[in-house]
Amino acid sequence: MKIRAAITGVQGYVPEYILSNAELEKMVDTTDEWITTRTGIKERHILKGKEQGSSEMGAQAVRLLLEKKGISPDDIELIICATATPDMLFPATANIIADKVGIKKGFGFDISAACSGFLFAVATASKYIETGAYKKVIVVGCDKMSSIVDYEDRTVSVLFGDGGAAILLEPDSTGLGIQDSILRSDGIGRHYLYQKAGGSMIPASHETVDARQHFIFQEGQTVFKHAVKSMADVSAEIMERNQLQSEDVAWLVPHQANKRIIDATAKRMGVSEDKVMINIQRYGNTTNATIPLCLWEWESRLKKGDNIILAAFGGGFTWGSIYLKWAY
Ligand code: UT7
Repeated sequence: MKIRAAITGVQGYVPEYILSNAELEKMVDTTDEWITTRTGIKERHILKGKEQGSSEMGAQAVRLLLEKKGISPDDIELIICATATPDMLFPATANIIADKVGIKKGFGFDISAACSGFLFAVATASKYIETGAYKKVIVVGCDKMSSIVDYEDRTVSVLFGDGGAAILLEPDSTGLGIQDSILRSDGIGRHYLYQKAGGSMIPASHETVDARQHFIFQEGQTVFKHAVKSMADVSAEIMERNQLQSEDVAWLVPHQANKRIIDATAKRMGVSEDKVMINIQRYGNTTNATIPLCLWEWESRLKKGDNIILAAFGGGFTWGSIYLKWAY
């Protein structure tokens, strides 16, 4: 039988500090009522401490995953890190995580696809496994969104949180694992959700700092409209081309950007709310960590053979869905 990449372990990590809606009410002109009804978010975790980047959370998740699985770092052949907030522009955060956890016999690289990065990374990693040449690949999604959030901007500060989570992918020849993926991007989206300065086009300068150009800019409504349509379209498409009816789907694991986007996607798929993983109320949008954090929290309820659909939409624009059969 065909070799497929199966998820054989998952582990999340969120920092201790919790930023509640009540605390945000004291920082910007907002209310718990507005945040809850418009987004579904109640609180988010924030990474505190000097010189702590996304790799800190990614490394914690990978370390705990290796411990949990009883696997030596020497066995990991490839680590792909999905992040929109790399520790540095270069080298890749995957390399920093690999060094922190002692992965010395493999290689690593980052994938930058905003909130869809984790999906893109899983799809990429699965191809290495499917060739038969790779046996143990880690995909880690981690983001310290608080490092690019303007806590004077009410339209953005309420949305994001920090976190990391990692999965282990191994070959499966029994029909389980990743069955199909649909990935899309459209550069038109770069005008509606981005960080203006700090790259090669507009390097950091006193002026860019003064103009607050190192923070996330989002045209919320435009992104919202695209997200609702694209995430729902791609999730419906992957069901259709794999002849899946709504009752065949055990779980929908959507990117957690806004509860209303999640609800619209589930509705379009005909999947009832009890089959949708939602933890946005406790973490907010952790960008590349949302989907694996869900899998981690739901791990004990998942059954071998469960049909699971992952779906995401993010800056770029980027979006996609993955259909997999849970393997343990
Ligand atoms: O994960 C990456 C992809 N990102 C997304 O998927 C996010 C997509 N966008 C969204 O989720 C929503 O557009 C937001 C949650 C960002 C905003 O919700 P909205 O329902 O689209 O609100 P809006 O931008 O249309 O703003 C409505 C009103 C405005 O006031 P006026 O002009 O009607 O007086 C805003 O200024 O709400 C105001 N507003 C706020 N009020 C209180 C915006 N942010 C806040 C806030 N507290 N935090």
